[in-house]
Amino acid sequence: MKFFIDTANLDEIREAYDLGVLDGVTTNPSLMAKEGISGDSNVRAHYKAICDIVDDKVSAEVISTDFDGMIKEGKELAKIDDKIVVKIPMIKDGVKAIKYFHSEGIRTNCTLVFSAGQAILAAKAGASYLSPFIGRLDDISYDGLQLIEQIVHIYQTYGYDTEVLAASVRHTMHLIKCAEIGADVVTCPLKVITGLLKHPLTDSGLAQFLADHAKAAGK
Ligand code: E4P
Repeated sequence: MKFFIDTANLDEIREAYDLGVLDGVTTNPSLMAKEGISGDSNVRAHYKAICDIVDDKVSAEVISTDFDGMIKEGKELAKIDDKIVVKIPMIKDGVKAIKYFHSEGIRTNCTLVFSAGQAILAAKAGASYLSPFIGRLDDISYDGLQLIEQIVHIYQTYGYDTEVLAASVRHTMHLIKCAEIGADVVTCPLKVITGLLKHPLTDSGLAQFLADHAKAAGK
């Protein structure tokens, strides 16, 4: 399972990359705004800065919601760097845009997915990645992980190439369950990735090993 980090914060991206386990980055307009990035040239420069940190797969989201606008914007985003994956919302013109970019060899990430029907549409249009939002479904009392399971089953049944990119991942158990279910990718905040490190028995075991070593050495 690939790990993407869900942030536009350069320090967090560097920290995850330095850990050696990062496969890509997802951003969205809210995450860019959180970093105070606005204006076309600043947005482009920020995407370029992200691409310069990681090896591949940086999702950059279009703001347009009509077909022509999404195509124009997506092409401009794709020009920034070969690592860019154009992120397109799951709306009617978005499906058409995904189909277009697929025919042009430009990778896409279909975002704001909340149902299996939307997942089938995106796969048929040729999306490279599909982003179902687990946490936002959980927030309204739907089972986000159950949706991931359903989509993985459908994609495997029909051999769709689209990768299931579990998004809106809020905690380590979301990530671990995604691994059990067979999601291709998870995207999550840095704290979820570093949260995987934690176990009290690791901490107490290491403290004991170090104490025993010091005692034997007469320190
Ligand atoms: C994914 O691509 C989205 O940017 C993200 O995972 C949404 O997460 P949130 O629901 O925590 O905002």
